[in-house]
Amino acid sequence: MYKQELTIIVQSIIASNTADQYAAAAKTLSDFYKKINSITFSQDNEKAVKGGVALSSLGAADCVDDYLRTVFFIKGIYKALTQLCHDFPDRSINVLYAGCGPYATLMLPLLPLFNKERINAVLIDINAISIASVQQLVTLIGLDEYQIQLLEADAITYTSPENFSIDLAVSETMDYALTKEPQVAIVQNIAAQLPAHGILIPKEIRVDLMYTFFDQEPYLKNAVTEVEGYKTLQPYPHSVFVNRLFTINKELFSKTTPVYKLESDFYKLPDNFSNHPDVCVFTEIKIFDDVELKTAESYITNPYCVVSLYSLINNSALQLVYDFSAIPKWSYNLKNE
Ligand SMILES: C[S@@+](CC[C@H](N)C(=O)[O-])C[C@H]1O[C@@H](n2cnc3c(N)ncnc32)[C@H](O)[C@@H]1O
Repeated sequence: MYKQELTIIVQSIIASNTADQYAAAAKTLSDFYKKINSITFSQDNEKAVKGGVALSSLGAADCVDDYLRTVFFIKGIYKALTQLCHDFPDRSINVLYAGCGPYATLMLPLLPLFNKERINAVLIDINAISIASVQQLVTLIGLDEYQIQLLEADAITYTSPENFSIDLAVSETMDYALTKEPQVAIVQNIAAQLPAHGILIPKEIRVDLMYTFFDQEPYLKNAVTEVEGYKTLQPYPHSVFVNRLFTINKELFSKTTPVYKLESDFYKLPDNFSNHPDVCVFTEIKIFDDVELKTAESYITNPYCVVSLYSLINNSALQLVYDFSAIPKWSYNLKNE
């Protein structure tokens, strides 16, 4: 039984508040999973779904090593669960974790901090090996007494039963600039099922248009050795913030008719852009409350270059289009007035 060891690790994650502490606490969690896991994960079981590609079980396991991501999500989810337990003191809190991966990294470590009657969790993954792995971990860690239901299902189409009103939905199924993975399609499906008080994590994914020098912007290449908070990262000084394109949150998808494409307004192209020649998408994540992942703090908040302004010189305005009907991708439309 590893419950006590995991409790100490998650407490150190929640207490951490410097880059060194984040890195040390995340490493302990990663080492813990690697020590107790006995399943060999494959990198050949990626799955294409309607809104993107679900990572292989190996790729999903490796997410634990995106250190700031792991620490900040666990901190944010802990805050959300604590708030819900406070708001609803007389009943258990229904949690849907969509895309739990083989370690259920963002939920299993937190369970020992709550009384087993307080949390009622449904954990979904499209990958059967991930579900088998989480089942094994639940037993090994000693969490069998908790109300945990494990489901092999597609979170883009999953409908929760009527007797399971979701208090907290968690999904981290995204890559940088929302490319490749199906985060937005999953959020669209789950947001429509949340009651008014239901919390979605991440609470907001902010997608911004910037003109900048892409190669000069911070870009996380090794999340284990480059653990730096945004206060110490050096953004390119001549970048130009153009506008917030979209905010992916519960409200965006509260409508009943699903969409598969998001289109921005048209933005005037700059006449002089030698200092900021690239059209880029920046993503920041508000996980919950004051817990945020800023640019390049995680692989999933790395910036993305859509096109060079040098190739648009005969045009006057640009619109960005995010299409998540299949593997999510960015494109653009141009206007010449
Ligand atoms: C980026 S990994 C994250 C794993 C884990 N939640 C973590 O934070 O470390 C995303 C996981 O979501 C799963 N996934 C992706 N799309 C899915 C879908 N449509 N339905 C269910 N699971 C999905 C993948 O199989 C993968 O295990």
